[in-house]
Amino acid sequence: MAGTYGIGAFIERYIRQFSTRWWGGVRCRVSFYVSLALFLAAAFFTIFFFIESDRLLKAEMRGRALAFARHLATMLLPDIAAERAGELDRKINPAFISFDGGAADPDLRTLAVYDRSGRFLVGRTRQEAPHRAVRVPQTGPAEAESLQASLTAETRQMQEPLFRRAAAGIYEVILPVRTGGEVIGFVRLGLSGEWHAARYTANARKAAVILVIIVLIGLAISRAIAVSITKPLSELSAAADELKRRNWSAPVPVQGRGEISRLIETFNDMAQTLLQREISLSRGNRDLFILHTAGLDLMEGLDIDALLQKTAARAEDLVRADTVALATVDQADREMKYASVSGGKATALAGLERAIEAGGIYNWIASYGTPLLIQDAQSDFRLNGELMASLGIRSLMTVPLWSSNTMTGLLTAFNKKGGGAFDKHDLRLFTVFSNLVSSALQNASLYNDLKTNMDELEEAQGQFVRAAKMAAIGELAANVAHEVNNPLTSVLGYTTHLIKTLDLPEQQKSMLQMIEQETLRVRKIIRGLLDFSSQRSSWRRPADLLQPLRETVALLQGVAESGGVRIFEEYDGAPVVAYMNENEMKQVFINIATNALQAMPGGGDLRIRVRSAGRNEAHVEFADSGVGIAEEHRARIFEPFFSTKTEGGGTGLGLSISYRIVQNHGGRIEVESAPGSGSVFRVILPLVRQDAAARAGAG
Ligand SMILES: Nc1ncnc2c1ncn2[C@@H]1O[C@H](COP(=O)(O)OP(=O)(O)O)[C@@H](O)[C@H]1O
Ligand SMILES: [Mg+2]
Repeated sequence: MAGTYGIGAFIERYIRQFSTRWWGGVRCRVSFYVSLALFLAAAFFTIFFFIESDRLLKAEMRGRALAFARHLATMLLPDIAAERAGELDRKINPAFISFDGGAADPDLRTLAVYDRSGRFLVGRTRQEAPHRAVRVPQTGPAEAESLQASLTAETRQMQEPLFRRAAAGIYEVILPVRTGGEVIGFVRLGLSGEWHAARYTANARKAAVILVIIVLIGLAISRAIAVSITKPLSELSAAADELKRRNWSAPVPVQGRGEISRLIETFNDMAQTLLQREISLSRGNRDLFILHTAGLDLMEGLDIDALLQKTAARAEDLVRADTVALATVDQADREMKYASVSGGKATALAGLERAIEAGGIYNWIASYGTPLLIQDAQSDFRLNGELMASLGIRSLMTVPLWSSNTMTGLLTAFNKKGGGAFDKHDLRLFTVFSNLVSSALQNASLYNDLKTNMDELEEAQGQFVRAAKMAAIGELAANVAHEVNNPLTSVLGYTTHLIKTLDLPEQQKSMLQMIEQETLRVRKIIRGLLDFSSQRSSWRRPADLLQPLRETVALLQGVAESGGVRIFEEYDGAPVVAYMNENEMKQVFINIATNALQAMPGGGDLRIRVRSAGRNEAHVEFADSGVGIAEEHRARIFEPFFSTKTEGGGTGLGLSISYRIVQNHGGRIEVESAPGSGSVFRVILPLVRQDAAARAGAG
């Protein structure tokens, strides 16, 4: 068996445990000191009790002895005075028996009478039988001899009765007998201390038992006291352990108002504070995390609409709001519009527009520039209480969104999730978040502006290139046309003359007519070229757009009908007035409508619509149900000489001329096409203001 399991090791362990766990503990120490104090007190009282009881017993014994001696002295007085030893010897027994009604003292051992000079007169010793006193013989055992010896001189001098311890277990009293103040003799009694010793022992035994009981009671009491002191301490220690394990649920109960109670109160306060710190710390951590991810998320995209949507959803999460709404502000119309709403009241608020009220929240924030926290929304003077009540809004906070010193919107959180009102902490978080949103929005709008600028630049560049190209072509075309025009006129003139004057067989005549036709076609192209290159700005005036449009339809109606195309004119007759050259505009309409008819070789519908979009522009739309424009041709159709009509020949000049004319009128042409199902050509022209239109109508 290993040594550590031996008895020695066990004892050692036991003692060590005792010394650290028990002796070190408050409970043990308190028990020990309280018991010790009790024990010492009990011991002191016991010693006192012994001394006192000894004293009392001796006094009692002395009293009894003296009373007996006095009785004897009284009875034997004359004979002592006369020193009649014979008389005394005769009378001493009756006198002894007559004391105390005959109950002679059982402790009486010897009895003797002496004359005034201390000489022995008569004496008795008692052996076994208490009532049979035996005459003291002249010589005898030691006890009798000591009785017979004369009293010492010292003893004879004394005035008071003498009580003393004579031998082991024997006490004696010597009483001087007086008459008229003169000592005439002495009575001497010897008493056994046995009875006294027995009583003393009995008392001692009782005292020991009482001492033990007191010590036991003392132990019990001291334990109770120790427990009452250490119980709250151990509760406190258990609670501290729980706190360490973050398991602290309820405060330690406080009883009384002592130091330990105060300690417990302090501990409870401390635990409470610690717990609150922990809660706020973890809340802070969580907020920081959400803020961080929200920030990353917001910075990610540059699309403003998506950003607005994200903002509301993220904020809802961040401040645990029931609903978060982002209102944008239209400074011109003085209107707030909820651009993005997330949460429970999304349907009630989304798209809601509200005018900015004089004393309302917007002006409040705009003038103070600070966020606003309202804990009771229905009774706040800045809010419409009825509206708040009808929407069920109890608590709200609003922070401004800024874009370089201009307030561009408000971010508002309504109602804390799970009841309660928003607090300062929420507001601080919300404000930090709104700053993030502001800068994200600013980034996005800067990006968008940049993108628009880039697009415009690209478009302008394209237009510039096109214009340059056209100008070059225009110049070339003008020169060629001019050069070709004169010979062409001769060719046409002579051909016509020959057809009229010569009487040719039919075959040759038709050949000449063919030459005339083709030459006419060439002249048409040449004229188109000249038109295209003519730089002169035509004379313009306010006129009704519908006029050239009607003339175009009238002109093409026949061709359309023969081609199986129905023309629908979808406009009421109200004049649509623009600054224009009617002839040029008619040419534009004819070109576009002709193209439309040509796109529907098998017949179809041509719908002509006129709309005034807003107050500034007129739209004239030609929608055909033709073949449409192939994707790869879309970008080129306005180029001069671009044509897909190979047979019967397009010149490829119609659209480029039209484009140029419309551009000179300050307008533009838009095209939409779905290959296979038709195209829409839209001529957009700036309108003349109403008063000018009225003048045009009158004139
Ligand atoms: N309504 C239309 N539907 C389909 N394609 C069209 C239409 N209008 C114009 N186009 C296309 O645009 C090209 C250029 O038209 P245009 O300049 O008028 O020249 P042309 O008519 O002489 O070909 C046409 O060849 C045709 O391919
Ligand atoms: Mg054409």
